[in-house]
Amino acid sequence: MSLTDHAPAIAFRGRTVGEIAATLPGATAVFRRHRLDFCCGGDVPLAEAAARRGAPLDEIEAALDEIEAGLEPDEVPAAAIETGALIDHILVCYHEAHRRDLPELILLSQKVERVHAGNPALPVGLTDLLRETAGLLEMHMKKEELILFPAMRRSTSAMVAQPVRVMREEHDDHGEQIRRLEALTGGFTPPPGACRSWTALYLGLGHFVAELMDHIHLENNVLFPRFDAEG
Ligand SMILES: [Fe+2]
Ligand SMILES: [Fe+2]
Repeated sequence: MSLTDHAPAIAFRGRTVGEIAATLPGATAVFRRHRLDFCCGGDVPLAEAAARRGAPLDEIEAALDEIEAGLEPDEVPAAAIETGALIDHILVCYHEAHRRDLPELILLSQKVERVHAGNPALPVGLTDLLRETAGLLEMHMKKEELILFPAMRRSTSAMVAQPVRVMREEHDDHGEQIRRLEALTGGFTPPPGACRSWTALYLGLGHFVAELMDHIHLENNVLFPRFDAEG
């Protein structure tokens, strides 16, 4: 399926960030580079999202145009993936990945907080914040795995509209956890001379947050709208 089957013929600046992210493979890298929120705040037109961030709209649009022009015909946007396959992808690439990554990050954080106690650059409370994030995420993913996703696989019934609303609200809470993690760590930038563990911790955190944003984007902007429409 070609991209033109999905993309409306209007300039990127008039389309929402979430819709572009769902239909143009590779667009999320551009949004991430310019710190535009494409997951929880994805329902905002690109022009408005860029203005809010003070990001260069012309440059962003040019980068998206370039990606679109260079797309291979067999590159499939997330919006074209069938619901069952999309759920499988979310489970394997995100739910499993978060469960694998977070315990390791908590251990690393514990170590850094212990070894560098008293260092003014130390992200004091990071371990507790990560434990809280892991707890919230685990409860949320369980609800998706046990209730929402099986219902979505069975039908497109409006019965899922209410749980979808709740999951969207919980995604907003995850967005808040991401902002707290970024604030505590200065955007995951280790201080000069940071040890290997501290550097690895921030690298891992940045990776985890990028994956969590992709995860929320796929649910909020690609999977859930299929059921909003039914409701
Ligand atoms: Fe999920
Ligand atoms: Fe979710």
